[in-house]
Amino acid sequence: MTLDSTWVRGRFPAFAEPSLAGQAFFENAGGSYACAPVIDRLTRFYRSRKVQPYAPYEASRLGGAEMDEARTRLAAMLGVETDELSFGPSTTQNTYVLARAFAQAMQPGEAIVVTNQDHEANSGTWRRLAEEGIEIREWRIDPETGHLDPEALEDLLDEKVRLVVFPHVSNVVGEINDVAAISALAHAAGAFVCVDGVSYAPHGLPDVDALGPDIYLFSAYKTYGPHQGLMVIRRALGEWLPNQAHYFNADVLYKRFTPAGPDHAQVAASAGMADYIEALSAHHGGPAHGAAAARHAHDLMRGHETALLQPLLDYLSARNDVRLLGPTRAERRAPTVALELSAPGAGVAAALALEGIMAGGGDFYAVRPLEAMGVDPDKGVLRLSFVHYTTEAEVDKLIAALDKAL
Ligand SMILES: Cc1ncc(COP(=O)(O)O)c(C=O)c1O
Repeated sequence: MTLDSTWVRGRFPAFAEPSLAGQAFFENAGGSYACAPVIDRLTRFYRSRKVQPYAPYEASRLGGAEMDEARTRLAAMLGVETDELSFGPSTTQNTYVLARAFAQAMQPGEAIVVTNQDHEANSGTWRRLAEEGIEIREWRIDPETGHLDPEALEDLLDEKVRLVVFPHVSNVVGEINDVAAISALAHAAGAFVCVDGVSYAPHGLPDVDALGPDIYLFSAYKTYGPHQGLMVIRRALGEWLPNQAHYFNADVLYKRFTPAGPDHAQVAASAGMADYIEALSAHHGGPAHGAAAARHAHDLMRGHETALLQPLLDYLSARNDVRLLGPTRAERRAPTVALELSAPGAGVAAALALEGIMAGGGDFYAVRPLEAMGVDPDKGVLRLSFVHYTTEAEVDKLIAALDKAL
């Protein structure tokens, strides 16, 4: 089914914003535009519900109910129980807290498998546990393609491994890792699994239950929402790991790994992500509610993005002055496309800005994968990333701008 781009863009106020007119946005992997229901809920919260939630007076009751609503509806879309989803300030902070919990739960000599494909948020904090006696084993990417080979993981697994961490999609390689197969491998070896889904979730919320990891993390501000980190922790692991919050909150699963007080307004506004996903599905003839709507919206987004991505990949692959990182087939990847060029990525991004293209250059905190692929992080890459609200005309405009800038 074709995506109704006019309808979609009508749900994002940025497309009606005069100061952004004529600008094609290709830095979505850094942070997406927010959808109208999120902005409306955030505004309403700050205007009429900005009080301590969960008290008996009406404004407070409504604020607390809206926070609960966000967690309940998004958890259902992700295929998990409501209390298995929590909100923290960012994915980086969430992994930091999780790593503290694992440090307490693990014995010296036990091991964690990390990758050199991850954004630093799902890498450095785990690697630092070496200072506390945890063995760190690195699952390495292919230096040419950036591919993470599950067979190479098998060689790293034994009874000492308690945890395997990896990305659903790397923010510079773009390849979609087979989370279900990798989770099954790790589980068969007796390890827990933590997946960074930050670069996947904006392209359609996944069914976390079907994929099988014990932890799934993503960032709402890249998924049409406010600046929050969403964290699924499955019950068995969440109850096994030591509580990191106030001692009297230890019995509440969704509070155990978010030691700070929540950002009430942003948690409440996250319900707008569910509003948007459900409306997107219903508008295109799909289910109007919950997990079924999320699956339909996911497939709509993927279908649209894949169709737009292939011509861009073909164009880039045909140029001999560009090294395209990651797969050249759109079905195997997210539309997050990093390019190694002879010039620094940031300079080319600046040239593209003159052509009305908003893109970024640099290392994108993916220093390890870039180094592993032989890219100098100081030179960095040019990254072109889009989502389902991007149009074919914008991709054409990007290609014309690249023709001039490269
Ligand atoms: C793949 C990936 N993981 C993790 C992060 C960190 O997310 P946050 O900014 O919410 O800490 C990012 C941010 O760019 C990312 O791209």
